[in-house]
Amino acid sequence: MRKQIAAANWKMNLTISQGADLLDAIIAKPHSLTENQQAVFAVPSPYLAMAQAKVAGKKNVFIAAQNCYSKKSGAYTGEVSVEMLQSLGISVVVLGHSERREYFNESNQFLADKVNICLEYNITPIFCCGEALAIREAGTQNDYVAKQLEESLFHLSAEQLQKLVIAYEPIWAIGTGKTASSEQAQEMHAHLRAVLASKYGDAVAANISILYGGSVKGSNAKELFSQPDVDGGLVGGASLNADEFVTIINSLKA
Ligand code: PGA
Repeated sequence: MRKQIAAANWKMNLTISQGADLLDAIIAKPHSLTENQQAVFAVPSPYLAMAQAKVAGKKNVFIAAQNCYSKKSGAYTGEVSVEMLQSLGISVVVLGHSERREYFNESNQFLADKVNICLEYNITPIFCCGEALAIREAGTQNDYVAKQLEESLFHLSAEQLQKLVIAYEPIWAIGTGKTASSEQAQEMHAHLRAVLASKYGDAVAANISILYGGSVKGSNAKELFSQPDVDGGLVGGASLNADEFVTIINSLKA
């Protein structure tokens, strides 16, 4: 049975003491994670150790990096390697967020290299895909996201693929307050699962968690997550508020 996941993406926000207070507040609030559910916090790199210490021993709660580099080590000033993440006990990393694709020119091929090195070090990528507004308006979003998966993931074996989580994040819904309707989300998630099934078979595709991202908040999470192919969310703005994020965690399917 695939996992249901509420993933927070703090992006480049908060000081370390604000981040620590936010984590403390979320951990202190009543929330229940079943065996099949996870809460993930993708925090800025300098806060990884602090955050990891706070969730130590908490079942089904994970700290994630927001990015990593594609090389093992070396003269890559400013970059963070998977070996560094592993040495901190971090086992999840967000890859290919649309902000990284757009502002840092991350290509599908570059992301394929990052996926490979993560898997080599047993780090779970939350692999992001999603189309810009112009693509949605042109009606070519299905082909566009299929290509993102094909070019970054289709070299993987079925066993490797099942270690990934996918996040569908339509760019027109990120930080805009404009959420995809639950029907739009379900339609795209079903499409992504069909794309995976076309290469890896139905059983493999059915095992992969596909998160929705783009203006998820406490008030719309339950409706979005109730869709059969929506397995939770990747949440930016609303993850910076403890009450909102706990509501989102509590909106996950059982
Ligand atoms: P948002 O961001 O929830 O603020 O729209 C989502 C994301 O970019 O991961």
